[in-house]
Amino acid sequence: MTEIAITRTTTPKQPPADETLAFGKVFTDHMFMMEYDEGQGWHDPRIVPYAPFTMDPACCVLHYGQAIFDGAKAFRGKDGQIRLFRLKDHAARVNRSAGFLCIPEIDPAMIEESIRALVEVDQRWVPSMEGTSLYVRPTIIATETFLGVHPSHSYLYYVIVGPVGPYYKEGMNPVRILASDTHVRAVKGGLGAAKTAGNYAASLLGAEEAAKAGYTQVLWLDGVEHKYLDEVGTMNIMLKIGDEVITPPLNGAILAGVTRDSVLQLLRGWGMRVSERPISIDEVTAAAAAGNLEMWGTGTAAVISPVGELGYKGERYVINGGKTGALTQKLYDTIVGIQYGTAPDPYGWTRLLGNRVGG
Ligand code: COI
Repeated sequence: MTEIAITRTTTPKQPPADETLAFGKVFTDHMFMMEYDEGQGWHDPRIVPYAPFTMDPACCVLHYGQAIFDGAKAFRGKDGQIRLFRLKDHAARVNRSAGFLCIPEIDPAMIEESIRALVEVDQRWVPSMEGTSLYVRPTIIATETFLGVHPSHSYLYYVIVGPVGPYYKEGMNPVRILASDTHVRAVKGGLGAAKTAGNYAASLLGAEEAAKAGYTQVLWLDGVEHKYLDEVGTMNIMLKIGDEVITPPLNGAILAGVTRDSVLQLLRGWGMRVSERPISIDEVTAAAAAGNLEMWGTGTAAVISPVGELGYKGERYVINGGKTGALTQKLYDTIVGIQYGTAPDPYGWTRLLGNRVGG
């Protein structure tokens, strides 16, 4: 693997106090960059001072949205050690997303090392208060200057990082979500399984309407029948009806969440009955009306987020009395314990910052 060149800033900034952190507003002193050119491959991996970059107005990402990203996290544990969570899985997903958009793959070891090395350079920015972390945003954009529609011949891979607090203003308090039967996020055969900018653009109008109606997020239903749960856009969705934990299957229209996978492994390890199966909104509302429902979202940014209310076709369904369910709380405590190093890590999800890939 090519060595990463490091140029340190001469004007370091002051990280904000942990208590003031929101999501995605503050960035550190450095960023990682690496270019791709046809015939040359990915080249010039480097860490440089964080700064804006210039783009030609005809740059194809600005017109046709050939862009992908991912989101990972680094945690400062109670023992002061910095842990990176499931980096290998995030690196694999970067390449899966890239494949959907005809973007050339990056050596997964380089993706992992780009993140590890950047977090190492900016390690004083990793906050320590529970609920905070250093959020990592690897991104690839198409950089060729042209207005014809075809895959770009050049790309920029960059990574930015920033200290964050909770994604939702509710924190660990239950959020309210609105199941939309009018807007669609993605359809099978489309880009729903890729972490690409367009999926988030597609979610904005529905999310604005949900916000006006007092909801935090949209629960996207399948794009054909508007009947089966897909995901929330900012997180995957899970629920418990009786003794069955259910989450929609990876059907090509939803993102394969890393936290989703972590939760499924934990639940199966606890011997619970877990189904990855299509679940209709009618089954969910019936369970909610019968008071037999616990519901939560899973995501890197959202962690484990309880759902306290579901809106659908003008009805409001209060879930679990609007309170965080016992299983939701147990999942949150377990995942957060692993991430901050206060609980055992039986699946080997975390890696200490000092350990290089293969080291
Ligand atoms: C993440 O959870 O990392 C995401 O990318 C979701 C995004 C809406 C913040």
